[in-house]
Amino acid sequence: MQSMTKTTVTSGQPALAGLVGNTPLLRVSEPLAPAGRGFWAKLEGFNPGGIKDRPGLHMVERARARGELRPGGRIIESTSGTLGLGLALAGMVYEHPVTLVTDPGLELSMTRLLAAYGADVNVVAEPHPTGGWQQARRERVQRLLEQHPDSWCPDQYNNPDNVAAYTPLALELASELGHLDVLVCSVGTGGHSAGISRVLRQLYPELTLVGVDTPGSTIFGQPARPRLMRGLGSSIYPRNVAYDNFSEVHWVAPAEAVWTCRQLATSHYATGGWSVGAVALVAGWFARTMPADARIAAIFPDGPQRYVGTVYDDDYCAAHGLLVSPPAAEPEVIGRVDEKEVARWTRCATVVDPLTLRDTQGNVVEDVVSDESDASKESR
Ligand SMILES: Cc1ncc(COP(=O)(O)O)c(C=O)c1O
Repeated sequence: MQSMTKTTVTSGQPALAGLVGNTPLLRVSEPLAPAGRGFWAKLEGFNPGGIKDRPGLHMVERARARGELRPGGRIIESTSGTLGLGLALAGMVYEHPVTLVTDPGLELSMTRLLAAYGADVNVVAEPHPTGGWQQARRERVQRLLEQHPDSWCPDQYNNPDNVAAYTPLALELASELGHLDVLVCSVGTGGHSAGISRVLRQLYPELTLVGVDTPGSTIFGQPARPRLMRGLGSSIYPRNVAYDNFSEVHWVAPAEAVWTCRQLATSHYATGGWSVGAVALVAGWFARTMPADARIAAIFPDGPQRYVGTVYDDDYCAAHGLLVSPPAAEPEVIGRVDEKEVARWTRCATVVDPLTLRDTQGNVVEDVVSDESDASKESR
C-alpha cells in the first residue's frame, strides 16, 4: 500500500460552498454546427473542482443531516478524479478528513492536486487477481471503512443524493434558457443526466434526453473493454442511470472526442476532456439535424487542465492513433443496443437497462465488475 501525505483539515470553510454553481453558458456554433445554428454548453469546469463539486457537497450534507456521517467522521471513496475534487472540497467545507482510493492509472497531476487539497490519496499498488483494479479499490475502501469506525462512503454509483444534487443545475438551465428541446449528457455514474432530466422533464415534458457513452462501456449494454476515455463510461451497471429517461444513446470513440475537443479549443477558447469532446460532437449533430429554432443544451463536465498529457498531447494522441481524419458527418445507426459491438460514433434510439436484456440463450445479463486497469493505465 502506498499512501500520500495528508493534511488534516482543522477548521471548516463554509463560504467555499458558495463558489459552486451558477456556471456560465457558452453558445457553440461553427465549426461544430452550421452558421446560425448551435447549442448551449453549460461550463461545469467553472466550478472550483468541476461538475462533481455539486454531488460531493450534497451527498456529504445529506449524510450529515441523516446522521450517517458523524461530525469529524472520515469520508472514504474510490474515485479516479472528479468526485475526489468534490469530496476534498466537501471535507474542507464540513470539516471531515477525506481518503480517496485510486490506482496507479490516476494522472500524477491529479494525485498531487488532491493531496494539496488535503485528501489522503491511497493508491492501490496491485490489481485484484480476478476483479482487476476496480475490485482492488473496492476492497481497499471496505478495509479502510472497517478501520475507521466513524467513516462513511458516499457510493456515488448508487446514492440517490448524487442525482438530487443536480436540481440546482437544472433550474439554472431553465432560468437561463427559458425552454429546452434537447439535453445532451455524458454518462458515468448516471448522476447528472438523471438529476437534470428529472427536473427539466417536469418543466418541458417533450424534452429529448441524449446519453453519451464510449465503446467498451457496459452502461448501455455494450461489452466491457479496456478504455482510453475516462469520466464517462463504466465497466459496471450503476443504478443511478435513469434508463427510462433517455430517448437515445450515442457512443463516441476516443479519436472523435479528441478531434472535437481540439476544434472547440481553436474556435471557442473553451473545451475540456474526453466527455466534453464526446458530448460536443453529439450536440453539434443535433444542431445540424434539428429544426433551426430547436433549443439544445450540452453539459461540459470539466475543463481541459487534466488532459494536457492526453487529449492535447500530440505525442500521446499519435501513439494511440487518435490524430486521424475528422469524425464522419453522421453516426452509424443500430436498432438494438446489443446488435453489434460498436467501435466508432454510433447511435441507438432505443435505450434499455442492460440488466433486463437477455442473451441469445435467453439468460438475463449478469451484473459484472470487470477490470478497468488497462483503461486507467493507458490514460496516465
Ligand atoms: C469528467 C467527467 N465527465 C463525465 C462524467 C459522468 O458524469 P455522471 O457520473 O454524473 O454520469 C464524470 C463522472 O465522474 C466525469 O468525471
